[in-house]
Amino acid sequence: MKEHQRGSFSGKLGYIMAVAGSAVGLGNIWRFPYLTAKYGGGIFLLVYIILAVTFGYTLVMAETAIGRKTGKSAISAFGDLSKKHKWMGFINGIIPMLIVPYYCVIGGWVLKYFAVFLAGGSSYAAQDDFFTGYVSQVSTPIIWTIVFIGAVLLFVIFGVKGIERASKFLMPILAVLSVIIAIYSVTRPGAVEGLKYYLIPDFKNFSIMTVVAALGQMFYSLSIAMGVLFAYGSYMDKKIDMEASVKQIEIFDIAIAFIAGLMIIPAVFSFSGGDSSVLSAGPSLMFVTLPKVFASMPFGNVIGSIFFILVFFAALTSAISLMEASISVFMDQFHLDRKIGCIIMGLITLAIGIPCSLGFGIWEHITPLGLGILDFFDFITNSILMPIAALCTCYFVSRVIGIKTIIDEVKISSAFKREKLFTCVIKYIAPICILAILLSSLLSTFGVFSF
Ligand code: PHE
Repeated sequence: MKEHQRGSFSGKLGYIMAVAGSAVGLGNIWRFPYLTAKYGGGIFLLVYIILAVTFGYTLVMAETAIGRKTGKSAISAFGDLSKKHKWMGFINGIIPMLIVPYYCVIGGWVLKYFAVFLAGGSSYAAQDDFFTGYVSQVSTPIIWTIVFIGAVLLFVIFGVKGIERASKFLMPILAVLSVIIAIYSVTRPGAVEGLKYYLIPDFKNFSIMTVVAALGQMFYSLSIAMGVLFAYGSYMDKKIDMEASVKQIEIFDIAIAFIAGLMIIPAVFSFSGGDSSVLSAGPSLMFVTLPKVFASMPFGNVIGSIFFILVFFAALTSAISLMEASISVFMDQFHLDRKIGCIIMGLITLAIGIPCSLGFGIWEHITPLGLGILDFFDFITNSILMPIAALCTCYFVSRVIGIKTIIDEVKISSAFKREKLFTCVIKYIAPICILAILLSSLLSTFGVFSF
């Protein structure tokens, strides 16, 4: 079997920056705000944060420790530790293949918006029907998706050094610009109502879907259950303090998502009067709301272009790591050459990505499980496959290799202050809750009962 040369990150900071580059992406800036707006505002935020620092923390630690212990990526790592359970690694390996395609569609939207703002079209993009008009077209969104896929594959084929270096200084700029936009948004007339909706948990807005969506978002945003963290762990030096690194990545990831929410949710109230149809807009929310913010700002075209190009870079680094994770499955398991792996993944991405894009226009009538095509892929990966993969990891750690194996690995370089929390979550709380949430989301999806 062809094993990659396992290198190590240059140090703790190198590791944190690399994983943060993968973790911070469309999940934080595009997905988190629309889910928060749709599933209850403050109550969603609260549930999300609680899940991230308990379940999220536990699973990130478990995956990273398995990766570092074995020095392998997901499938081989599971296989190495227990041949019988290799299939559990496969589930982790398949998920990124199903996410990459629709991720590239959204990446294409980001590129299109960048081009529109660069051409000075902020007032045009701020019109109510601009987004719908654009995504319902047949060829243009597909072309932008293909441009995005091309960029991802280019970096995957020719190495990712340049982009990693660039993202190290572009990500902090994105964070600063987002804070400035957020300050502008929350100071618009009428935005206070939005701020309240976002920050004050209201149990009236709670439903089981709040938990289902928050759990899916936690997996997505922290790059859990996708084989990615195993791979990053395998590159982690034994001297790096794993616990401290994970904590910083968590804080960074939650902070960026939180700021993105501040940019978008108060603006929904300010520009659309808190219209509930806008709040539950779903995937289009960022693309409908932010152009209105930019159009009302001085130098809106410049700020809009800078914002969208930075989001593009954030999306690109994430898409590259998703693509890498997918391609490494072909390389490791089927002994295929990197280029062949790229071609296969390119074809899979097109085969799923194009229908996702058409689902907003001429294929609008195709609604598996009552969802649009893009939403469908998002739902089956985040709300079904990832919880299953996470359940497998919990089972694998607590029943197959033993929690002590992970604890020993972590303790090589960390004090493991949250050891008790980790043990309790991975053994009892996570499996029981994930199972309950999984069952309820499945039952409600298939209409057995509704919430
Ligand atoms: N976490 C990334 C985001 O929030 C998505 C992603 C998942 C990227 C898995 C890489 C690996 O956008």
